[in-house]
Order: sequence, then structure tokens, then C-alpha cells
Amino acid sequence: MPVTRRQALVSAGAFAAASSLPLNGQTQSPASDAPEAEPVCLSDFEPLAKAKMPPMGWEFLNAGAGDEITVRWNKESYQRIRLKPRVLVDVSHVDTRITLFGQEHAFPILLAPVAAQKLVHPDGELGAVRGAGAAHVAMVLSSYSTTSLEDVSAAAKIPLWLQFYARTDHGFTRELVQRAEAAGYRALCMTVDMAVSGARNREVRARVQLPPLPLGSLNILGSKLDPAVSWKDVEWLRSFAKIPLLLKGVLNPDDADRAVKAGVAGIMVSNHGGRNFDTVPATIDALPLVVEKVAGRVPVLVDGGIRRGTDVLKALAFGANAVLIGRPYLYGLGAAGEAGVTMVLNILQHEFQVAMALTGRPNVASIDRSVIWS
Ligand code: FNR
Repeated sequence: MPVTRRQALVSAGAFAAASSLPLNGQTQSPASDAPEAEPVCLSDFEPLAKAKMPPMGWEFLNAGAGDEITVRWNKESYQRIRLKPRVLVDVSHVDTRITLFGQEHAFPILLAPVAAQKLVHPDGELGAVRGAGAAHVAMVLSSYSTTSLEDVSAAAKIPLWLQFYARTDHGFTRELVQRAEAAGYRALCMTVDMAVSGARNREVRARVQLPPLPLGSLNILGSKLDPAVSWKDVEWLRSFAKIPLLLKGVLNPDDADRAVKAGVAGIMVSNHGGRNFDTVPATIDALPLVVEKVAGRVPVLVDGGIRRGTDVLKALAFGANAVLIGRPYLYGLGAAGEAGVTMVLNILQHEFQVAMALTGRPNVASIDRSVIWS
């Protein structure tokens, strides 16, 4: 599904239209038509969001663990990777579709689970899911959602997956999984990189307080993270889950191998956006080692630091089947509600198409390591 830059800029209706830079070479209107604050790339949403968001929400969204070194590395590592262009390939049609767990996705891009979205915008997760729906992008709902998983599902025009953490209360987890299945969620992501909470210095300094998390009768804050979480929990979950189970938060290739042997359906290479454990590597640096170890047995997804369509291309070149974005769609939500989420996604989708075109890759299957200048 082609997304022109014009669509990217105007489909959400939140900001005035500017120019068009479509793949098929339509004319471009002068940049001077554009209002000064109009966002044209993902980072442009940050100051717009900051101006509208309560300071505590802003700190929550941007916080990283410790000295926030991994937060920085996640982005910088993409910036260091150079692309190898390829010319004179017919890219009049660029096919961005992929299939994951039997489900077609228009682009290899999903929304990562992000907690407590009402700290960012009053519409919270409903704004995100509606904005994602307009861009045909699937969303992974955080179990720390400020909206019930059933309400999010009722508003969704897109596939939903549910994220959760292992908890000491197994009954809680079982009930959550069963509710998700009953509400039509298509996959489960167990986040495994937070057996304990890390050095969340910035959140502590900003006195971040989560609002109510209304997952029905289940009091998620009252039910503790389980530091004893182990591979046995993965087995236990697989014994009753009826939908695919992915592990989110794998960096170590040996863990990835073990996860595949434990029967998980997919792996998300993630360091939690650098929020929980500082100085672990950037995810794009860990990705190739995980991909090598998994050797195509299950899909590998990656998140952390993706801010450009070229980053999506690079992640796929290093073997990811799809990527997820976290903070960028919340900047869109904070700046302009659901329309802002759609704009962020449309811009990223358009940038990805352009990156495919300029590296001579007419479809996702043709993206491989030869895209990288090495
Ligand atoms: C997160 N992330 C996250 N992950 C998860 O598994 N469960 C959660 O509830 C949350 N909550 C959360 C809150 C906030 C404010 C952020 C920014 C992130 C991590 C998220 O899923 C993802 O791994 C990162 O956000 C990816 O990095 P980028 O795209 O933000 O750089």
C-alpha cells in the first residue's frame, strides 16, 4: 500500500499539508507553504509533544535507566550503519507487506507496548489504537495499560497483541491471558528483561506515579514482578496459551536459542528502550547474533532507537522480520492525539518505502545484508 509524503502529512489532519514527495514523482509544493512547526520527520514531534504534555508524563516517556547510555546507543548505532544504494531497478511499485503468524501486515512495523499512555494524552491507549488503525499498523498493548484490554480491542481495526510480565501471582497471569484470548488478541509477548526493576533514576527524580491501571478486577500494581521467573514459566504459559507466545527483551543469543527450544513462536530483540538496564548493547548490535543463532526457526523482531525509515530497512537487512517503535508514536500521541500517531506512522512508512526504492529493493524479501555498505 503506497503512502505518499502528502498522505503522511495530511491524512491525520492535525497539521496543514505541505509538499509531496511521492515515489512516482509528483510535483512538490514549495516548503514555504508549510507552517513552521509542521512535523516532517519523527523527531519533529518531540518538541510538539513536550509543549503539550505534563512534565511528569514527559519525564516518564523519555526516561532511561542509569546514565541513559543504552538509550543513546540504540539510536547512534543505527546512525553509524551506512547503506549501499542500488540504481536502475524498477521501483515503480514497492511492496512493503509481510506475514507474521498467519497475519498480513501492510508494513513490517508494529507499535511496541508502552505503559500508562494516559500520562501522555487523555485519550491514552484508545488514541494510540485508533491512530494505528488509520495507518494499518498492529499494536502490542502493555499490561500496564490505562485502558482495559477489552476497550482497546473494541476500538481496534487492527490486530492486537498483549504484553505482560511474569508475576508472583500465576492466577493473575492466567486470567490475563484468557481475557486477551477471549477479546480477540492474536499473540502474547512476555517481557523477560525485567525480572527486577532497574536503576530508574530519572523516573525516581521526577517522582513518576502511574495512574490507575484498570485491568478489571486484576490489581496489577498489587501483583508483584516475579524475580524467580524462569524457563519453567515459559513452559507453563505454553501449556495453556492458545495464541502464539513471543519473548520480549532477549539480547543474548544463547537465550534466544533456549527460547526457540522452549517452543516460543517468536523473539523480540529489545533492551526495553534502555529503560531498565544501562550499558547493555544497542539492539541493532545484538540483532545479527540473535538472528544467526535462531537461524530462521522463528520470526525475530527488534525494537529500540528506530526513528527513520532507513532504520527499519537496516533492521530488516540484519535479519529482523519486523520492527516495533515505542517513544516515537507516543510523541505523536502527545503532540496531536490519535491523528499524531497516524502521522508518525505514515511518515515512517513513507521513509521506509523511499529507502527500499533507493536501495533497489521492490519487496521485503529482497532486503538482505547487501543493503549495508560494509
Ligand atoms: C516502555 N516499554 C515497555 N515494554 C514492555 O514490555 N512493557 C511495558 O509496559 C513498557 N512500558 C514502556 C513505557 C515507556 C514510557 C516506554 C518509552 C517504553 C518498552 C517498549 O516496549 C520498547 O521496548 C521501547 O520503547 C523501544 O524503544 P524506543 O522505540 O522507545 O526507542
